[in-house]
Amino acid sequence: MMNFFLETIQVLLLSIWYNVESFIHLFVPFKKKNISGEVVLITGAGSGIGRLMAQEFAALDTVLVLWDINQDGIKETARLAKQSGAKKVYSYLCDCSDRNEVYRMADQVKREAGDVSILVNNAGIVTGKKFMDAPDSLIEKTVEVNSMAHFWTYKAFLPAMIANNHGHLVSIASSAGLIGVNGLADYCASKFAAVGFAESVGLELLATGKDGVKTTIVCPYFINTGMFDGCQTKWPTLLPILDPQYVAKKIINAVLTDQVYLLLPRSMYFIAALKNILPMKQGIVLGQYLGAFSLMDTFRGHSKKQE
Ligand SMILES: *[C@@H]1O[C@H](CO)[C@@H](O)[C@H](O)[C@H]1NC(C)=O
Repeated sequence: MMNFFLETIQVLLLSIWYNVESFIHLFVPFKKKNISGEVVLITGAGSGIGRLMAQEFAALDTVLVLWDINQDGIKETARLAKQSGAKKVYSYLCDCSDRNEVYRMADQVKREAGDVSILVNNAGIVTGKKFMDAPDSLIEKTVEVNSMAHFWTYKAFLPAMIANNHGHLVSIASSAGLIGVNGLADYCASKFAAVGFAESVGLELLATGKDGVKTTIVCPYFINTGMFDGCQTKWPTLLPILDPQYVAKKIINAVLTDQVYLLLPRSMYFIAALKNILPMKQGIVLGQYLGAFSLMDTFRGHSKKQE
């Protein structure tokens, strides 16, 4: 009886404090951690957000490990990262859809660059077809790159982070990992998986007392990187197509402040919350209003093959 009373009081007080703390941080920025000298691995670093994050991390005096399937892309990212001040840059060709290759390259990274302390699972692909029109091979590839690669990279790099009780797992998911989208069924499935996976392992780490290994889950709306070329947003003020540079900066800031969830743009926090509490029919009406049912109608995607 006494335990119930004490625990309830404790939870109430902590609840009040965490809300006050959260309110204070609307005005006072979080302290940023120093990641100088840390080894940062970025998958899909050959283009888009991956390349921009590499440049941002480089400017923070880190050692960069770049993975991509695109040789030219990764070379250019390596050049830019060195220019931005990276301590050292290692580049590897790695097809993240291949588990054995992920493990093989991970071993090579550990031998050559040392233990990775910041893992950024960023590589992603999109089919962009109605589900029944999507070839089985592309559906499989989408799940392999967008979610299963995260399993294998965690298996490879998490043990060292746990041993040191120090590290950061960054999952570049999508708002399509929180809300289903017409025309993106396989992509959404893969991103929901990525979000659920990162959240669950984050909790597993917390439950085992490894609170030095942090998790950041990034859920952006469309970013103007070419991956979703052709897609249009209906009300750009409410749901803008995001600027890649802005997204990269927000991600780095989230990592430096140990922010667990980063949804972009800010309206996405509200939309994601609404999805779970509104009556279904109202949700559909709002979805139509926001253009959510025709987002993919004008999809072209990358003009050339790219990860
Ligand atoms: C960050 O840490 C490194 C050593 O790990 C140190 O040399 C550097 O001065 C620190 N930077 C800041 C801004 O504290």
